[in-house]
Amino acid sequence: MVSVPTDPLSLLDNDGAIRFTAVYHHRLIYIEYIFTDYSASSCTKMIFVPTDPLSLLVLLMTMLLAWITTQHYLAPCKNFPPGPWGLPIIGSFMYFGSDVHKDMTKLSKKYGDVYSLKMGCHTAVVVKGVNAIKECLVKKGTDFADRPHSWSVEQYNPRYKGIADGRFNDKWQRRRQFAHTTLRGFGFGKTSMESKICEEISFLLDEFRDIQDKSIDTGAILNRSVSNVICSIMFGKRFNYSDPKFSFIIDTMGKWFELMGTMYELGFLPFRRPFNQSNINNYNTLGDDLRKFCKQQIDEHREVFDPDNIGDFIDAYLAETMKQDGNKDLTDDQLKYTLADLFAAGTEKTATTLKWGLLLMVLHPEIQDRVFNEIDQAVGANRLPRLDDRKNLSYTEATLLGIQRFGSIAPFTLPHCALKDTSLEGYNIPKGTEVIILL
Ligand code: HEM
Repeated sequence: MVSVPTDPLSLLDNDGAIRFTAVYHHRLIYIEYIFTDYSASSCTKMIFVPTDPLSLLVLLMTMLLAWITTQHYLAPCKNFPPGPWGLPIIGSFMYFGSDVHKDMTKLSKKYGDVYSLKMGCHTAVVVKGVNAIKECLVKKGTDFADRPHSWSVEQYNPRYKGIADGRFNDKWQRRRQFAHTTLRGFGFGKTSMESKICEEISFLLDEFRDIQDKSIDTGAILNRSVSNVICSIMFGKRFNYSDPKFSFIIDTMGKWFELMGTMYELGFLPFRRPFNQSNINNYNTLGDDLRKFCKQQIDEHREVFDPDNIGDFIDAYLAETMKQDGNKDLTDDQLKYTLADLFAAGTEKTATTLKWGLLLMVLHPEIQDRVFNEIDQAVGANRLPRLDDRKNLSYTEATLLGIQRFGSIAPFTLPHCALKDTSLEGYNIPKGTEVIILL
């Protein structure tokens, strides 16, 4: 039996149609009558929807699957970059082994320097090669200046504070500009930084001399030494290599970086998160420890702050916040995230470059000899090399560039995101598309 509304004419719509639902044998039926002149009528549509729980569940699952599949295979816009096939939910992850950057490079041989990739349920664009990267980061730098929405970043930085994770807007630009100007003011990237580096190298050489014939973890010492150069600018001090607090924070940073790739992947593969809970907890604890260390440095600086004696990045930041017309976005919390960014980004990449350098010199003693002889002739044994010596050290410089090219120091930039509808190598890239830049 179909149960029909008692007065169907009361359901008459403005367009002269009657539409109602009724239940028939556990099926929800949608019925539509179109009336031509209120006398003749015919049933034009009947849609059956199951009402028993199991059939309803099957129907919902089918619709969800159909929706996910359609969304997955629909290109986000016309003339979108081509790319490999991917499965719903897991996307193109089946193409990747342990060296994702190498697998992405292989795919670029087939699909070109700008291609699309299914990252779980999202579609990202991969950019490779000098011309495409220049177009993305230089020529159209502002079009691609944003950072994407990121589950892994939101684990520790839900409001995208600091510099490295910050979403592109006026406040972020001012924060970044302030950090840039202040770092340069303290000699960063200028010859005046040489003296700080030379001072730290003396400590590093002492450390190597003390070791004599013992086996050591060179990476741990290089990390501390590079980090100390950054610390001297940010915190106005260096730490002893054996300082337990410093050792703890350097190790914390190393472990945090190691987990970063896993966390990035989990951002696209949510169904794997429950099986990676200990990694997620670890990542959050390590990040918290890193920021706690930075906060301690801020508190110590605030206690002895002297506006007439601005000696490092934290002092300069605190002074700016105290100015009447200072940048109001420069809060303690922003400072904490910015310090963590500079501390981590500044230590990791430089130390990794040096570690690759040591390894390659050990593996190629003939090149090590040539570098040694060139420095010996141009500089001598009584002083450290300076930037000024560069013009006489062409073989050494070529070796350093070779190390950076060969070593997998930064296979990717940080992820970028299109701020507006734009294009790359003639392909359309809609606003909001995540862009993975393969170096
Ligand atoms: C061998 C040395 C280094 C390499 C290879 C390197 C590489 C990179 C790369 C590839 C990025 C991503 C850029 C992007 O997403 O567009 C980056 C970002 C960054 N690096 Fe470095 N870096 C090095 C040294 C340093 C140092 C010494 C510092 C600072 C003390 C630093 C601070 C930063 C910061 C703050 C960011 C985020 C920048 C932003 O969003 O504007 N890096 N670095």
